[in-house]
Amino acid sequence: MSLQGKHIVLGVSGGIAAYKTPALVRLFVQAGAEVRVVCTAHALEFVTPLTLETVSGNSLYTDMFHRVGERSTRHVHYADWADVLLVAPATANILAKMAHGIADDALSTLYLAFHKPVVVSPAMNVHMYEHPATVENLRLLAQRGVHVLDAAYGPLACGYEAKGRMPEPEELFRATEAILTRTAEPEAAPLRGKKVLVTAGPTQEPIDPVRYITNRSSGRMGFCIADALQRQGAEVFLVSGPSALQPEMAVAHWEKVRTAQEMYDVLLRWWPDMDAGVFSAAVADYRVRDVSDVKMKKTGGQTALELVPNPDLLAYAGAHKSERQCVVGFALETDHALANAEEKRRRKNADIIVLNTLEDAGAGFETTTNKVTFLYKDGTAEAGELESKVSVAERLVQRLGRCMGVLTLWCLLLFGGAALQAQELNCTFQVVSTKIQSGDKKVFETMQDALAAFVNGQKWTNLQVGPGEKIPCSMTMEVQERDFTTGVTKAYLTVQARRPVYNASYQTTLLNVVDKDVVFTYNAFDPIEFSDNNISSNLTAVVAYYSYLIIGLYLDSFAPNAGEVCLGKADNVVSMCQGMSEPGWKSGERNNRNRYWMIENYMNGNYGAIHNVLYQYHRKGLDLMYGNPTDGRAGVLQALTALKALNDTRNGLPCKLLFMEAKSDELVSMFSGATQDERQQAVALLNGLDPSNAQKYQKIMSAR
Ligand code: CTP
Repeated sequence: MSLQGKHIVLGVSGGIAAYKTPALVRLFVQAGAEVRVVCTAHALEFVTPLTLETVSGNSLYTDMFHRVGERSTRHVHYADWADVLLVAPATANILAKMAHGIADDALSTLYLAFHKPVVVSPAMNVHMYEHPATVENLRLLAQRGVHVLDAAYGPLACGYEAKGRMPEPEELFRATEAILTRTAEPEAAPLRGKKVLVTAGPTQEPIDPVRYITNRSSGRMGFCIADALQRQGAEVFLVSGPSALQPEMAVAHWEKVRTAQEMYDVLLRWWPDMDAGVFSAAVADYRVRDVSDVKMKKTGGQTALELVPNPDLLAYAGAHKSERQCVVGFALETDHALANAEEKRRRKNADIIVLNTLEDAGAGFETTTNKVTFLYKDGTAEAGELESKVSVAERLVQRLGRCMGVLTLWCLLLFGGAALQAQELNCTFQVVSTKIQSGDKKVFETMQDALAAFVNGQKWTNLQVGPGEKIPCSMTMEVQERDFTTGVTKAYLTVQARRPVYNASYQTTLLNVVDKDVVFTYNAFDPIEFSDNNISSNLTAVVAYYSYLIIGLYLDSFAPNAGEVCLGKADNVVSMCQGMSEPGWKSGERNNRNRYWMIENYMNGNYGAIHNVLYQYHRKGLDLMYGNPTDGRAGVLQALTALKALNDTRNGLPCKLLFMEAKSDELVSMFSGATQDERQQAVALLNGLDPSNAQKYQKIMSAR
């Protein structure tokens, strides 16, 4: 069920290949997707409504004005509902309409209202396919981000053997599936739910009805930023001055203005609702004080225009930004560039300033490339090479995500390095020795300091982690017994780790275990050393094992498989410790908190399934909870269902135990405010998974 829960709108236009679309719909439905079909009138010459309605299980949409208990804005409703629009077959006619924004029937109107991925599969006679008009239309669509599939070669209905066939349904299915999977991955949309304002282009300041003052800005940089933001899932609010260009992707909120004052008016309206603003417009600093109503005549002699300052949009946003709002400005400097840009950043209270200089060939106005330096409010700077404006925009959006606190470790993992380098864990390490009655307890202080320095100072992975991105966790070692002569110590180690939740100050517990099998030898000032291929002390091995486990779980909770390398390293520690005499490592010691069993269940064949539970619970559930609790709870229920299925096949799975220990209280509070139906589903799943806590879960039903 590779497309489980996906919503697909299939647009069918009037080509002979339309007869194959029922088979395509069936493939989507079999893969778990819900399909709604929109047909042009001509398509119905080739395929019957009854067939399409039967295979899709949904009514057909062909006539915009025919309403049977349906909304008259069905095109908008479909556009909001769908994850993808596939137009197959796409005739030359529908492609031309799409390319030029003609909306005169259900399908072409739906396309204009559509703001998610669009795929077209052109199918027509070879000469029509190769006609410059069609070629140009396809180019335009592709440039705007539409996925254009190649027509297939073979016998055409017109008798030719040539290019122009619609690919077989299986092929269309695979292409759509690939696009959907790619765009649905959370790493592709870390800014989902964020509203970002972008200013772009120049402004025009009128002198009289026919003349104005402007500058050479093309708007390209701002449009690239709007595209990059949308690719990361942000809701873009674009305000632009006059420009011949436009973003590649359709923008839901786009105000086209002329003057700085008009741009400012839009800012005043939008800003309170924004999470961030990127101010890339080359706003005219001045406007003409007295704009003439009539065309000014030349007087022969000298003349002067009196200019008055325009409002500064960036400065306004910087002065009126709340804690959560991030502001990015641009600076074009020709001398003392860094110092001037930094002064501008401070003066306008921007979080990031993108510094351009005109010195480098290929940078600045009227080019497709740029060379910039990012200046951050912590005083650091990051210089770039000459690169395309698309790439500058990508990097800027990534940095903005960091500033907004939504792109953390996992994004760095996926997108590559960042400027800052630090270790992964922010761990409070405590050694508690209250149970020890006699002996020189100072040793525990040195042990605590040494272990804290070790956990937080060790570089556990190749990730580059900024200071705000470290994983919050704690390790508390409660010493049970100590032989002061030999240094042999027995202890319980409580390990807890947390993870931020989007849109919330709340942090979810990722791991909460008490390891009661910690036995090691330590004397004051013993070196605390560890490397992946040389384990010299059981103490460091235990601590390293949990460090890897924490990082692995954390990364897995953000992105598919991201934790695999770290969990593999934890597994490696376990393997290397098989020969050690200390308890807790051996496969034979079958208890649920045994380290071997904990990791074994991540690394063997069940790994994928457990990984999916973690990922589903956090990304598809908890992260939605604070924006859309209904979706959030639905995601969590799906995760619990998957965990239950896994547990039913492997009863007593330690992972289940670890998971429930970290999450049980959270689940109780999450579902206590839910609908009756959600509560019942949750309690049934939780009791099945964790019967020993049935009483606790009963609180969900009795909560008001
Ligand atoms: N900006 C703005 N509104 C203005 C003027 C500028 O939002 N009225 C923003 C621009 O979009 C850009 C930054 O402020 O992000 C540029 O600041 P500005 O002071 O105009 O710097 P420069 O254009 O580099 O020029 P100057 O140094 O002459 O001020």
